[in-house]
Amino acid sequence: MNIIGFESSCDETGVAIVNTEKGLLAHALHSQIAMHQAYGGVVPELASRDHIRRVLPLTREVLEKSGLTIKDIDAVAYTAGPGLAGALLVGASMAQAFAWTHSLPAIPIHHLEGHLLSPMLAEEVPEFPFVALLVSGGHTQIMRVNGVGQYELLGETLDDAAGEAFDKSAKLMGLPYPGGPALSKLAEKGDPAAYALPRPMMHSPDLDFSFSGLKTAVLTTLRKIEQAGPLGEQDRANLAASAQQAIVDVLGYKVIKAMKKTRLKRLVVAGGVGANSQLRSYLRSEMAKQGGQVFFPPLALCTDNGAMIAHAASERVKAGLVDLNNSAYAFGVRP
Ligand code: KG4
Ligand code: ZN
Repeated sequence: MNIIGFESSCDETGVAIVNTEKGLLAHALHSQIAMHQAYGGVVPELASRDHIRRVLPLTREVLEKSGLTIKDIDAVAYTAGPGLAGALLVGASMAQAFAWTHSLPAIPIHHLEGHLLSPMLAEEVPEFPFVALLVSGGHTQIMRVNGVGQYELLGETLDDAAGEAFDKSAKLMGLPYPGGPALSKLAEKGDPAAYALPRPMMHSPDLDFSFSGLKTAVLTTLRKIEQAGPLGEQDRANLAASAQQAIVDVLGYKVIKAMKKTRLKRLVVAGGVGANSQLRSYLRSEMAKQGGQVFFPPLALCTDNGAMIAHAASERVKAGLVDLNNSAYAFGVRP
């Protein structure tokens, strides 16, 4: 069965085709980063309008890349939420129109389920059950994943997400949007022990997080440095490295605690912050010490994309969670 998937929840338009047996056949992606950069963040109105411009050419591209025609498509998946309302509407309308026209089932997918199952798109596929660390621009959660659709929330952020902590700290330091990759690049030249930034809730008994205090600490530190003299390039690199280390320490400590608590040996990391190389190497070495293994999505599929949406739909279909012939989603059967 060939499933085409649409992602348009924020600033990436993604379209992909997954075959339930063969896996990912093709994906096409357009990032709006360059467009939003001038504003220092995502402008929802511009995002929606750009999704409208991109979604048809990307659909054509993905069909060409896969060697399939529209007639070969058996189901249509789309990100139903969470995300920017106007942006989500573009993907949802495109998918539902596609499904309606060709009498195909339309499968709504939760954006986070897309991220959560995306490590299964890598060469080394994790077996269930596993612990998942979901770290994106909007969410920071630790889950126990027993199977497709069987998710138990173990902990989450009480305020800002890890990606937000990266983005907001980066903005304070005058780095371009999106701050995560920019801050991480600057941190390569810095000393992570240069500034003592807080590790909020690191030793709380739960598996929750709090990141909002970090941006305040970054701001206070910046002011202190500037009071002592002009902010030099090395100061900025040191602050970037210190902020990154604080975020990685808290994420790492809490997720290893979750591994011990659940006694599971497999950890999956997904969402945009999962692209962070410092976090990746920290978790690789910590998990090796625990005699466990950590799985990541392919680097290109860490941030938003259509492949994870088509793939999540494929997994839901295979797990019998979508009634293709007799569901409200099967427009061809029950318009
Ligand atoms: O998953 P994603 O593409 O979108 C959401 O669903 O939110 O994640 C975007 C987030 C942004 O906050 C971005 O700064 C962060 O992921 N990010 C990174 C890196 N690449 C993306 N954060 C740290 N290091 C990176 N290399
Ligand atoms: Zn996302």
